[in-house]
Amino acid sequence: MTDYKPTIVVLEDADAVSEYVKDEIVKQIRAKPNAILTLPTGGTPIDTYALLVKAYQNGEVDFSNVTTTNLDEYWPIKKAHPSSYAYYMTEHLYGHVNLKPENVFIPDGEAEDFDAEAVRYRAILEQYPADLGFITLGPGETCHIGFNERGSAEDSVVRYVPLDDQTIEANARFFDDPQDVPKGAITQGVADILSAKRILFVATGEHKAWGLRRSLQGEINSDSPASFLRRHRQVIVIADKAAASLL
Ligand code: F6R
Repeated sequence: MTDYKPTIVVLEDADAVSEYVKDEIVKQIRAKPNAILTLPTGGTPIDTYALLVKAYQNGEVDFSNVTTTNLDEYWPIKKAHPSSYAYYMTEHLYGHVNLKPENVFIPDGEAEDFDAEAVRYRAILEQYPADLGFITLGPGETCHIGFNERGSAEDSVVRYVPLDDQTIEANARFFDDPQDVPKGAITQGVADILSAKRILFVATGEHKAWGLRRSLQGEINSDSPASFLRRHRQVIVIADKAAASLL
């Protein structure tokens, strides 16, 4: 199997990272107005989405022909729950730009049968192969991408996964009651993520430094699902100085 050395861009701080990622996404959409983007949620991308909304409002980018496929959604969770990723995407992006509702896809946290939902979502990904994947690094030792927790295989595809205790702990900040963090999620698999033509892999903050080093310089294996990104020819790692401090 071939391994590649990703390009690594280290920027001063998280604001500079958000600006850089926004510029890359705008460039992608300008180069291909019907681009297909894979998108994350969580804390890292919030400012990037705010900058994309601004770019849209300033007439710098047009989402009318863009398609988005989100990485993951908690399961089970109601779409109307303020901590669901469906709600998050509406709040931070979908509600403010001219994406067409029929062109935005996210796993259904309300699906009764998560296996059937995984099959449905996988078919969507096959229909809409990503031009650009915007991928962020999970917390602590998880080294997760999407919700591919430790133990995830390189050839994994969309499926239900139990969440790592470290993920549940880190994501409790998004819930009024930490007990409410769902114990599982439906996520794109590692293979789904790697099928994007190009990938932006983003990490900010000192708390991501260990995981970034493990993912970029440690062995490529399931102990760090993010390490599988080194099997992809076109990955740009974008980190702030704090996240890159152990490289
Ligand atoms: C969310 C996702 C997760 C998060 C990751 C980092 O869609 O796929 O991999 O991106 O847990 O979360 P933050 O940015 O909150 O540190």
